[in-house]
Amino acid sequence: MAEEKKLRDISWKEFKALPLTEKGAYFQGDPPHTLIAQQFTRAKLEELCTLATRIKRINKRREGANFLKTLLSDKRAMLYFAQPSSRTYLSHNAACQILGLDTMDVRDSSTSSEVKGESPEDSVRTFSSYADMIIMRHPKGGFAERVAWMMAHTGREVPVLNAGSGSDQHPTQALLDIYTLARSFEDIGGIDGKHVVFVGDLQRGRTVRSLAWMLTLYKDMTLYFVAPEPLQIGQDILDLLDAAGTKYVVTDDFASIMPIADAIYMTRIQDEWDAAGESSTIDTSSFRIGAEHMDIIKDTTAIMHPLPRRQEISTEIDNDPRAVYWRQMRNGMWIRAALILTTFGRQDEANQYYDDYKPGT
Ligand code: NCD
Repeated sequence: MAEEKKLRDISWKEFKALPLTEKGAYFQGDPPHTLIAQQFTRAKLEELCTLATRIKRINKRREGANFLKTLLSDKRAMLYFAQPSSRTYLSHNAACQILGLDTMDVRDSSTSSEVKGESPEDSVRTFSSYADMIIMRHPKGGFAERVAWMMAHTGREVPVLNAGSGSDQHPTQALLDIYTLARSFEDIGGIDGKHVVFVGDLQRGRTVRSLAWMLTLYKDMTLYFVAPEPLQIGQDILDLLDAAGTKYVVTDDFASIMPIADAIYMTRIQDEWDAAGESSTIDTSSFRIGAEHMDIIKDTTAIMHPLPRRQEISTEIDNDPRAVYWRQMRNGMWIRAALILTTFGRQDEANQYYDDYKPGT
């Protein structure tokens, strides 16, 4: 990671034009922001995964849970979700509760002063006056970055955590996906060298875009993008993979890839993005997984999904040990708690408690 740079020292125009891999250096400072997948290093991912597991273990006992609640009891978070959300919203809210952080929320812009003509920037600045952190989801790509830049030019810069922006980024989902992969492959050599297969709406799925990049931080990976042609992954992501030297295959033949997959990351068709409803006419029937595929895939394959699902994963396989999507969702709460704690620089206190009391698994 390049040396730390300050958002307040750069104009919005210059910042916006930077390549993603150069933007990360602007988010490491005080306070650190979490905005794009490209700001993470492998060391940081590993640190967060370790801390997530420690928080989870500490939380198992009442004394531990009570201790965790003291860690951020002097802080308040604003959850600003201007886009539908249930699990990401609840998961962040629960992560805050674990750490004793009070939360407030605005979940519907039609109940905010935006209906009186206030700009979204002013709205967020207003919300930030009552909070020490903003966790936000917004339909406009890049808006979370814009908010962080704006904050840096006020006298009171609070950390911004991007909980999903447009169809471009979902860094905290990518974190929980990495955590899930790391845990799933714990006994088979970790994430390095694995074949990760992305299936479905790769064009508009922001979780795939963020996770694909994070996987470039691992050695000898092969990524497979399996989708009907109009829903295939964007060239911008393939360019990032090329630049990182990560191998990939773009195909519409799911059946031939299934047997070699170490992880299968299913996604739903995101037709809320196309007003004309064109994507409902695309044949997606071969981009699903069900009981008939369980003999074809490996015994160790992790079947994942950011959820919500539609028909792309049959409920028949929900209880197969390889179906990790429910665990994946719960992992989100732990890794987000780790991220929030680290954002406030209080991770050493949790690590110290863990070392002192060594809570079991
Ligand atoms: C995803 C999202 O919002 O991008 N959901 C989530 O955060 N768990 C995926 C989706 O909506 O399909």
